[in-house]
Amino acid sequence: MAEDKTILVTGGCGFIGSNFIHYILGKYRNYRIINLDKLTYCGNLDNLCEVAHHPHYTFIKGDIADREKVREILQKEKVDVIVNFAAESHVDRSIEAPDLFLRTNVLGTQVLLEGAREMEVPLFIQISTDEVYGSLGSSGLFTESTPLKPNSPYAASKAAADLLVRAYIETFGLSAIITRCSNNYGPYQFPEKLIPLMISNALEDRELPIYGDGLNVRDWIYVEDHCRALDLVLHRGKSGEVYNIGGDSERTNLQVVKTILEILGKPESLIRFVKDRPGHDRRYAMDFSKLQAELGWRPEVRFEDGIRRTINWYIDHRDWWQRIKTGEYMEYYERMYGNR
Ligand code: NAD
Ligand code: DAU
Repeated sequence: MAEDKTILVTGGCGFIGSNFIHYILGKYRNYRIINLDKLTYCGNLDNLCEVAHHPHYTFIKGDIADREKVREILQKEKVDVIVNFAAESHVDRSIEAPDLFLRTNVLGTQVLLEGAREMEVPLFIQISTDEVYGSLGSSGLFTESTPLKPNSPYAASKAAADLLVRAYIETFGLSAIITRCSNNYGPYQFPEKLIPLMISNALEDRELPIYGDGLNVRDWIYVEDHCRALDLVLHRGKSGEVYNIGGDSERTNLQVVKTILEILGKPESLIRFVKDRPGHDRRYAMDFSKLQAELGWRPEVRFEDGIRRTINWYIDHRDWWQRIKTGEYMEYYERMYGNR
């Protein structure tokens, strides 16, 4: 049996963080999770209502950029690992208002790193993204040694955070690992991102806005595969390393949207081509051979299966996304898509 561990998860009320918490509590009976989340517009306590009273789960509302709060938690709890999911994560919002992205993604990460250094936390895992590498042409894959060339304020803030992690490893000898994953999809994803937006709009017979020519390519990974990779990295990853995580599932946005419409039995006439995203990265695709060779991981869920599971989840959890698609969300939607 695995030894006890206390994991400080940040951003656990978001999409990937909540899937990770469910995964870890389901797999390791003696692990404790402390979830530090600011509950921004996309942080949702509903994502974790099933474990809210779990004896090994504690929720703390707070900001990763709040030094005192982070210090207080690390002084009180003997944390074995920090897994930093907390971030502003939506590219379009980073184009609208970059400031918050710098505060949370850069300064917030530095505050956590400083806390980890001061309190000698044995391991820090930074959840990063393939977007730090920039954009690919029609061939080739991102490897861990591809130069960082971020194109959006979001990607730049994540790249800056990665560089800070590296600096804390080199300067202070902090034990830390960076993981960079491609586009996730699955349950609990906030409906501003492509897949849940298209599924929920199609279920409501609304238009499906596709940016540009719809031929941008993403490498889709089912969120559970990402969690499985993080589990391996957490237990067997080597400090100081970067690990790419990918889905081996490249699709154009148009292919993704047409697949969703086909499964739902909805007409392609719902598709509306809209003005492109500024600086829109053309293609992402990950070489995850390092993780495969060193830790024996590869994605297990085929896109065709994952997308069906995801669609079924959104059909079965209509209340979850309909509660979100009100108020602030509708204002955002109008700003983003109203005159596009
Ligand atoms: P998300 O937007 O769904 O969730 C982010 C969570 O962080 C929310 O619960 C939010 O309340 C919380 N948060 C934001 N600012 C905070 C702050 N200052 N202090 C504490 N909590 C704060 O994001 P996600 O899609 O689950 O992404 C999680 C992480 O994974 C991010 O770091 C993102 O960059 C990275 N990532 C995401 C993808 C993807 O496809 N979604 C792929 C690769 C990497
Ligand atoms: O690659 C990993 C990244 O994936 C993560 O780091 C980010 O946090 C995550 O948001 C995601 O970024 P993308 O910009 O790739 O995801 P998004 O779902 O916003 O868009 C996916 C593609 O779909 C992209 O080419 C833009 C396009 N798109 C998106 C939306 C929201 C549309 O065509 N229409 C839309 O309405």
